[in-house]
Amino acid sequence: MRLDKYICSCGSISRRDVKKLIKQGLVTVNGTVCKKADEQIAEDSVVAVGRESLVYRKYVYFMLNKPSGYVSAVYDKKYPVVTELVGEAYAHFEVFPVGRLDIDTEGLLMLTNDGVFTHEMTSPRKNVYKRYFAVLDKPMEEHDIAEFAKGMEFKDFIAKSAKLEITDNPREVYIEIAEGKFHQVKRMCERVGKTVIYLKRVAVGGVFLDAGLSPGEFREMTEDELCILGYKSENIR
Ligand code: URA
Repeated sequence: MRLDKYICSCGSISRRDVKKLIKQGLVTVNGTVCKKADEQIAEDSVVAVGRESLVYRKYVYFMLNKPSGYVSAVYDKKYPVVTELVGEAYAHFEVFPVGRLDIDTEGLLMLTNDGVFTHEMTSPRKNVYKRYFAVLDKPMEEHDIAEFAKGMEFKDFIAKSAKLEITDNPREVYIEIAEGKFHQVKRMCERVGKTVIYLKRVAVGGVFLDAGLSPGEFREMTEDELCILGYKSENIR
């Protein structure tokens, strides 16, 4: 692997800065200064910038507070995409969204470059629940709880049993679903005669959206959070 790519993969130094540091003779590989950005080095090399040794990693896992107006994709002809919200320093990781939120939905969206992780989180067979906060046009009623709990049959899929919690304001609810089908929450609410007017994902499989993240902000997920999601991989950091 190229030396500059290796250093970029260790953390938040942009490719441009990496090139400068290498040119300035501040980078060592196995104890020897290396001034060639395109030097091929082994993944197990000991690379340091100044006195700081770097730890190479292949995969990254981000938690994003998705703002409304962004498409959950890496490219769109018309609208901005969520991957644009990840800073330049991380661009080389080429992350993609873990599943999808509608363009007008806000909240917890994970981004990664790890395809296995994405599969584990999105496969309906894995039953990773997703929790949403929704504001409706009309109040939910107690009997709707049973409708959600029964599961619902749609022409393209069967929604498993879902949990509906009505707050003190019955137009504001929490809904937990096991899948993540297209417009699933909106369609389940329509089935009981209510229209979703605001939707935010607040948790995925026991990991809650960090309240410190404003819409559009992201941070790396912690090992504890990845562990809560049951994702054990030797690739994590
Ligand atoms: N259900 C929806 O209807 N929309 C989303 O964005 C996510 C779940």
